[in-house]
Amino acid sequence: MSAGGLRRVRVAIDGPAGAGKSTVARALADRLGYLLLDTGALYRTVALAALRGQIRWDDAERLAALSEDLVARGRITIEHIERTQNSGSGMRVRLDGEDVSSAIRTPDVSLGASRVSAVPAVRAALLDMQRRAGEAGGVVLEGRDIGTVVFPDAEVKFFLTASPEVRARRRYEELAARGNAPSYEETLADVERRDKADTERPVAPLKQADDAIVVDSSDRIVAELVEEMALVVERCTAG
Ligand code: DC
Repeated sequence: MSAGGLRRVRVAIDGPAGAGKSTVARALADRLGYLLLDTGALYRTVALAALRGQIRWDDAERLAALSEDLVARGRITIEHIERTQNSGSGMRVRLDGEDVSSAIRTPDVSLGASRVSAVPAVRAALLDMQRRAGEAGGVVLEGRDIGTVVFPDAEVKFFLTASPEVRARRRYEELAARGNAPSYEETLADVERRDKADTERPVAPLKQADDAIVVDSSDRIVAELVEEMALVVERCTAG
């Protein structure tokens, strides 16, 4: 029990890329006064360390050894920071003490993160870390397999999704704003390819937990969506 008499629980938000998970998870954590754990940032940090160590994406053995070393020696650390208007995710990640929160957002690291996340030993190494970070509750965990693998017993599970067209449109607008957009049609084809790869891969495929609440963000205003989700969590913690 916390001081307010409410249980502070674990809230899982899983779903495909482009469904708006980061935005929604961050806003929900703020709304509830919970910490945010962006688990994709951990995979990204492993990818960054691999890039710096010149380890190839197909070298599963060295990626396994690297991720085990990173976790065993506490070389990846997470800090929860006070969020101001533009301070990003509310979470800072350090690699060997260096703040890598921005360095893990490059296209190279994105590609690498998707490759390292397909290596079972990398997933296993990061599993304990995620569990330790979330076990006390009062946390929103954002990822792909939180409700299915990391915390199958999470008190509240959301599966956030949006139509491929809406996700492609968001991605297209993001790329266009940076001045290097392929066509919308190409972006859509890319989203559909990635969905297929993510849901059909043998290791940790993206799938929704049986007891997850499916939330479709396609035509929704974020603030409304978050309010609805917060009410679900509050109903659960008051009970
Ligand atoms: O959500 P993101 O783009 O930061 O995730 C980076 C990569 O890590 C992405 O390819 C999916 C993968 N990932 C994963 O496999 N499992 C998670 N719990 C989180 C991310």
